[in-house]
Amino acid sequence: MCKRIFILTGAGVSAESGLGTFRDKKGAGIWSRFDPMKLATPEAFARDPEKVHEFYNARRLNLLAATPNAAHVALAALEVALAKRGGHLTLVTQNIDDLHERAGSMNVIHMHGELLKARCVACHRLTLWRRDMSTADACPACGRANALRPHIVWFGEMPLYLKEIFAALNEADMFVSIGTSGSVYPAAGFVAEARALGIRTFEINLERSDNADEFDETRYGRASEAVPDWVAEILMSS
Ligand code: OAD
Repeated sequence: MCKRIFILTGAGVSAESGLGTFRDKKGAGIWSRFDPMKLATPEAFARDPEKVHEFYNARRLNLLAATPNAAHVALAALEVALAKRGGHLTLVTQNIDDLHERAGSMNVIHMHGELLKARCVACHRLTLWRRDMSTADACPACGRANALRPHIVWFGEMPLYLKEIFAALNEADMFVSIGTSGSVYPAAGFVAEARALGIRTFEINLERSDNADEFDETRYGRASEAVPDWVAEILMSS
């Protein structure tokens, strides 16, 4: 049985909770309707911060109305079950939502940041943030006006926790990618890294991702069904 499992999740795991994905083959993803270069880059924020705030304020409202689905719940249960068996789950997500945490996952690594946090560009501190954000808000930590931004990794910025992520991948005996299109690096490169390490690789997605060919095994279906099924199989094989 695999005891040290490294899981990477993407927008597909939260799709059935009502949060939109960024890309899909039908062209209905968030980045088909909104231009990421005008909303998700440091340059866009410098040019028009209120427009960027407006985009993330809408997404924050959407998130606060959403609830975790069966995929989030199954992954939280897997974390507990593996720990009881002397194993370990590393859960890395590209998602900026908190649905893994709300389902009970205890150690979630948010490599692209968190929508419910504000970051101060002056003092760099993070503040929990559940309401709309605007240029009129002062940083609650240092009081500086016009210094808050969403705690999101934008295009052109370095993802967070890469050292911890690669260290965990080095110790894993299985890599599982769930609900991600495999089109944004460095996360899209984790499967190649896992293969180089000789780790078993597995994809769960609604449809073939951009890097599906790189996986040892793939399974296609809705995350809310495919993930609980896979978790049950993993736990039965112990
Ligand atoms: P994408 O929107 O690129 O891909 C979503 C994936 O989820 C696709 O491969 C879909 O097939 C799959 N999917 C959709 N519904 C599903 C379901 N019900 N069950 C299982 N799979 C489903 O999302 P990510 O790969 O997460 O970055 O995108 C990576 C990054 O690109 C995001 O973190 C975001 C974006 O720009 C930032 O905003 C920094």
